[in-house]
Amino acid sequence: MKKISAPLLGGIAFAALAAWMSPAQAADTIKIGFVAEFSGTFALPAREMDDGVKLYMKQHGDTVAGKKIEIIRRDIGGPKPEEAKRLAQELIVRDNVDFLMGFVVTPNALAVADVASQAKKPTVIMNAATSIITTKSPYFVRVSFTVPQITAPLAVWAAKNGVKQVYTMVSDYGPGIDAETSFKKAFEANGGAVVGSVRMPLSSPEFSAYAQKVKDLGPQAIFVFVPANDQPAQIMKTFAERGLTTSTIKILATGDVTDDAALEQEGDPALGLITSHHYSYDHDSALNKEFIAAFAKEYADLRPNFVAVGGYDGMAAIYAVIDKLHGDLDADKVMAAFKGLKIDSPRGPIMIDPDTRDVIQTVYIRKVERKDGKLVNAEFDKVEDVKDPGK
Ligand code: PHB
Repeated sequence: MKKISAPLLGGIAFAALAAWMSPAQAADTIKIGFVAEFSGTFALPAREMDDGVKLYMKQHGDTVAGKKIEIIRRDIGGPKPEEAKRLAQELIVRDNVDFLMGFVVTPNALAVADVASQAKKPTVIMNAATSIITTKSPYFVRVSFTVPQITAPLAVWAAKNGVKQVYTMVSDYGPGIDAETSFKKAFEANGGAVVGSVRMPLSSPEFSAYAQKVKDLGPQAIFVFVPANDQPAQIMKTFAERGLTTSTIKILATGDVTDDAALEQEGDPALGLITSHHYSYDHDSALNKEFIAAFAKEYADLRPNFVAVGGYDGMAAIYAVIDKLHGDLDADKVMAAFKGLKIDSPRGPIMIDPDTRDVIQTVYIRKVERKDGKLVNAEFDKVEDVKDPGK
């Protein structure tokens, strides 16, 4: 059994084997396969996710409903869908995990949808944010956000606050295309006009050409999405070099661009940026202050960001479900338990939408400010109970 090599298994053999093996046999241990991009271009957000997971376990212990929680980490090494799928299959067939979790980027999450469905393996998406992901498997649940969920409120805010013309600049893959589409839809429905759009490559984008073009075009405002890895710091550096941050062009973005983990590196050019997102390091609540203090104690070199909160809340969701089911991890019971689950998160209260298995949450409009010497995303407006408008 253990000798079967998962990558060599075809879909049918995999499905039969996975079905035969479930439910998990190791009665006293609950195994969770943690599949993420621990090395490569998304290593920083994957580390944030991992730190969130570890912090939750440190605070809440590694035993739930009398069972020991064992995390098995697997590194995808970047946006590599085939590798994500292979690792997920291996974790199911060889390690007999009870859950899968992780996934910073959309292509990797999408790649495990069929695997999760065939094996009936509850899979917690802790970041990947393209709207469509949760529609791809009934065994997917997402604790993070969707890009349309956070983009539409920003577009509405912009239209209502004097912004009439916007040029959009997004990464050319799932979440970027969601950002472009949902911004345009909500902005134009509220009287604004998108005057141009560009999609930039996900891999090694040459931001200076795009920045120069938009500077020459001179729109009233731009709307930007790039994923929160090293790109936010790079694009802000380029905008500063090309004089965009000191021009009259207003910069709007999703909170990925002013990622709390990158803000200090972005420096003063980021001041004044208006963004929308579900979590800010600066969020004013007792729970967030506790979370930040605990995180700082463990990981002094890193500020927790929205991906760390995704990891933290994902563990909270898994613990809550195991506890509720007293450790009986029948996959359909697990998925039923996720639906409607409420969590008190450092970002504010959240609920898993029973219909979509996505998060219903407050979306905040923020401005980059300097507070007590630190650059932060200061929340100044919000829309409560936002569902994913992409579905
Ligand atoms: C994604 O690939 O879905 C993704 C990655 C990083 C982000 C947001 C979305 O900051």
